[in-house]
Amino acid sequence: TEIPVITVDGPSGAGKGTISHMLADNLGWHFLDSGALYRVTGQACLIEGVSWDDAPAVAEIARHLAVSFTRADSGEVLVAYKGQDVSRAIRTEEGGRGASTVAAIPAVRDALLARQQDFRQAPGLVADGRDMGTVVFPDAPLKFYLTASAEERAQRRYKQLIAKGEGVSLARLLEDIEERDARDSQRSVSPLLPAEDAIIVDSTATPIGDVFAQVMLKVSEKG
Ligand code: C5P
Repeated sequence: TEIPVITVDGPSGAGKGTISHMLADNLGWHFLDSGALYRVTGQACLIEGVSWDDAPAVAEIARHLAVSFTRADSGEVLVAYKGQDVSRAIRTEEGGRGASTVAAIPAVRDALLARQQDFRQAPGLVADGRDMGTVVFPDAPLKFYLTASAEERAQRRYKQLIAKGEGVSLARLLEDIEERDARDSQRSVSPLLPAEDAIIVDSTATPIGDVFAQVMLKVSEKG
């Protein structure tokens, strides 16, 4: 295909979601939140009474995943499974654990591969995830790998949750992030890794607006 793709990979909490949404809006391109597909798969298991560790059953769920994404007037993306709104549920810490557990199952990744590639539609796609540049869109002309220290990512998540009125412990969040990083980078299939041709952007000490400016500069250089 000649339809362009920009991939944005990296660990959780590095600002990928924010940056790739801004990028897609700015370019008027489609957006793939691949993490949401893994999150919905985990949530579907809870709904269907399937254990996250039951690989064949989870893969079956992923193959037939009745998921839909719709954009509300507010701009918020609503995620539904079998018509049931799961937008909130998939964003909890448990939702993140479920996602990274089912994401380590090779047959689940296979089941979701073509579905992710189907998002590549004109005029272009911004794809957010862990393996967008390495596995799903290896031919993407522009790849970013966004990262930040685990402490900084835990801090950001902490502020988000506090702003939402959720009581959480920073130490617990840091532990969760480190655990998820370890699971995502040590799994045998599609481990979290920058593509060889990815531009690495470290946002530990850089405000998100500056990160976006850096990314946009690369996009415009690419023409
Ligand atoms: O990006 P997000 O935090 O929503 O992803 C949730 C989990 O889904 C990640 O921790 C990772 O285990 C998994 N994931 C993945 N490959 C992707 C996107 C997400 O394995 N492309």
